[in-house]
Amino acid sequence: MEGRKYIVKGGRPLKGEISVKGAKNAVLPAISATLLAPGVYEFKNVPLVRDVFCMLNILSHLGASWKVDEDTLYVNTEGIHRVDIPYELASQIRASILFLGALTARFGEAVVPLPGGCQIGKRPVNFHQSGLEKLSAEITLDHGNLVAKAKRLKGAEVVLDFPSVTATENLMMAASLAEGETVIKNAAREPEVFFLAELLQRMGVEIKGAGTETVIIKGRKRLKPAKIKIIPDRIEAGTFLILASLHPENEITIKNFPFEYLEAPLLKFQEMGGVLERKGKDVAKVYPQRSYRPIEISTSPYPGFPTDLQPMFAVALTQAEGLSIIRENLFENRFLYAFELNRLSANIRVEGQTAFIQGKTRLVGSPVKATDLRAGAALVIAGLIAENTTTIYRAELIERGYEKLPERLRELSAEIEVEPCALCEA
Ligand code: EPZ
Repeated sequence: MEGRKYIVKGGRPLKGEISVKGAKNAVLPAISATLLAPGVYEFKNVPLVRDVFCMLNILSHLGASWKVDEDTLYVNTEGIHRVDIPYELASQIRASILFLGALTARFGEAVVPLPGGCQIGKRPVNFHQSGLEKLSAEITLDHGNLVAKAKRLKGAEVVLDFPSVTATENLMMAASLAEGETVIKNAAREPEVFFLAELLQRMGVEIKGAGTETVIIKGRKRLKPAKIKIIPDRIEAGTFLILASLHPENEITIKNFPFEYLEAPLLKFQEMGGVLERKGKDVAKVYPQRSYRPIEISTSPYPGFPTDLQPMFAVALTQAEGLSIIRENLFENRFLYAFELNRLSANIRVEGQTAFIQGKTRLVGSPVKATDLRAGAALVIAGLIAENTTTIYRAELIERGYEKLPERLRELSAEIEVEPCALCEA
């Protein structure tokens, strides 16, 4: 991935409308699901972000073809002729593990590199492996690859130790072609899981309980391709909510705002003194406040407060009058961004899984680096309210999950430039 840096001039009010795009974490499992049945799929409202193209490059390697027309993605999986994913493709995206269930279910075998860890944590895939083994797959580790084999997967009851999002999605896809019924207990309840169930049902799978902690899937011998529109990205929406609320003269309206997916973050937003008006089914007008109250946040699986939004709220809490606390309960290393914010003169102390944010602090621009996708987005928000200029290195990480963010923010009068950055290349 070639390195990029964003140069953000802070302190300018932003005005106008911004629309939330389709959810990256909904389209990634949808791309894997196209392996379950040969044919042409049509996905509308697809975010054209790096993670999506990484997954599509893997599909191409396997023999599928695809094309994008504006924000519609067409995938044809009639030409799949191999079941092995090379390390150099899988290592670019952890979500490549989502191909394991579908390949094993459809072709009876799969070779998928064990994903490495990442900045926010080790992120093992043991739930994926043990769940597939419950469905009668044999999985061995061979030279860093998970090698799965199964004559035909058999439905079973799987109880997840933790409601893992992609483990739930992997098992739902595997169960779709398994013989008999599969019950997934302690399943993830994220909207993206519910969306995948909707897609699988359109492909002919009988699924009950998606979006609850118990999902029941009746496997079929054969499925068919389907068309679907990707749901809005609740994490992008939450990012824009915080971005819109931090400069006192901002006047921003957010469109395609999925209120129903953001109940917990919206309660915390209001608790800290944030004000937004619902102007229609999915339109939010944000009213920035001169001061915010300190609050406590604990991240948890959906419908709790999402871990992916805690970095953005941390930026807002540097502007709250007093001590705020964020407890991170999903990933073991998700506060690296705090040290970058402290370079902008924030006052954040991290002790293990807890961050203590002392506000209100005047942020002053400086060079910083994105440590992961959501941390990078939080640094953009901080740069927009910091004095002077903030240069964000490793900004290519932001482009994994936010489509054309600088261009979209420039439409709101933000001053943000993008430059290639050879130094950053990992
Ligand atoms: C999904 O990751 C999202 N990614 C993440 O978004 C999100 O942060 C996360 O869910 C939590 O909501 C996609 O959907 C592609 P998990 P996932 O499995 O599925 C542990 C972003 O920025 N675990 O729910 O990988 C794991 O270590 C990304 O878009 C195991 O121990 O998360 C973590 O502590 C970042 N063994 C916890 O469960 C396993 O086999 C939750 O992880 C699987 C997970």
